[in-house]
Amino acid sequence: MIEDIELRKILDSRGNATVEAEVYTDVATGRFSCASGASTGEHEVVSFAGSVDKSIEHVDKEKLIGLSVFDQKGFDAKLHEIDGTENFSFIGGNVATALSIACARCAANTLSVPLYLYLGGRFATSLPLPLGNVLGGGKHAVGGTDIQEYLAISTAPRFIDRAFGNAAVHKKVKELLQKRFPEEAIGKGDEGAWVAKLSNEEALQMVKEACDSVSDSMGFSIRAGLDFAASELFDGTHYRYKEKKRTKEEQISFVAELVDKYGLYYVEDPLEEEDFDGFAQLTAQVGGKALICGDDLFVTNRARVVKGIELKAANCVLIKPNQVGTLSDTADTVDLARKNGYSTVVSHRSGETEDSTIAHLAIAFSSTGIKCGAVGGERIAKLNELIRLEEEL
Ligand code: PGA
Ligand code: ZN
Repeated sequence: MIEDIELRKILDSRGNATVEAEVYTDVATGRFSCASGASTGEHEVVSFAGSVDKSIEHVDKEKLIGLSVFDQKGFDAKLHEIDGTENFSFIGGNVATALSIACARCAANTLSVPLYLYLGGRFATSLPLPLGNVLGGGKHAVGGTDIQEYLAISTAPRFIDRAFGNAAVHKKVKELLQKRFPEEAIGKGDEGAWVAKLSNEEALQMVKEACDSVSDSMGFSIRAGLDFAASELFDGTHYRYKEKKRTKEEQISFVAELVDKYGLYYVEDPLEEEDFDGFAQLTAQVGGKALICGDDLFVTNRARVVKGIELKAANCVLIKPNQVGTLSDTADTVDLARKNGYSTVVSHRSGETEDSTIAHLAIAFSSTGIKCGAVGGERIAKLNELIRLEEEL
């Protein structure tokens, strides 16, 4: 039984306020702190009701105390009831997510089993491919590329080698940037990816060169991927890049060409968040050779994934629990995706905390990937947890 609940305001990696929840039984505690996005989807639930403090005030803890810690669905239904809105705008989706996942953690700790095992069972044993952001721009950086994220994806048999592979690509990109811009200052964006004045395709060439070079020296394949975060580029009629603007049709052929030319493994949000049809056209063209993933398109929302499946809009769903607000809603979306042959990639947010729980979710959900950055304290928290879990598994 849940004996007590604590909510507090803490810092995220951008220095913004976010929330941490603790759930207690008489024998254990579970804690989770919730990250926040910068390039958020239109259909995500609301993160906070105005402020973190106000959201915390709005939670009627007495309604949660006394519930069974093992009844995750009941706990999450109660969160919806306390909130009373369609989009968690009263208690805030981040507060709901923090409580929901803290409840699961507390349940696992009460049983003295790891969270991945509590949620995923004995057959959830495979480690995800890490998608590491090594170069970027968009809403995560000032003065970088229009495309938000250039990702390295190491495919070594062991997770530890994948993590070090991505970190080595991150280092290699720095070396290439220093060679290219010997006189300029080079910075990092919110997720630790390098930021430099490169055109979108120059940046991809550089990341591809870095992937190939590290792949040769480490002896396993390292592929490149992109998150276009295309809603941020879309002005209502065109996709606006520094070099030119592209119509929907031009955007589709641009992305398809990049997939072919650079052997991309993964493409996220290549079209704006309402364009299921454009997604479907692209998936028909290149879905056989690359993961076409919806982030802002699906916002981890079951109903939007249902629509995506009907329209054959993608073959992969990005999973961010705070886009829907509870672990049960997240798990429903994952279930639906898996039953329909879609891959899932569990993801961090650009404003992260040191919490490593999403590492457990990636294993529990048997996800193909985890997008959690390549370097930086709040990013390696997840990678290092997966290195530990690989040892255990
Ligand atoms: P966000 O972006 O966390 O800033 O929303 C990450 C992403 O678009 O994948
Ligand atoms: Zn995204």
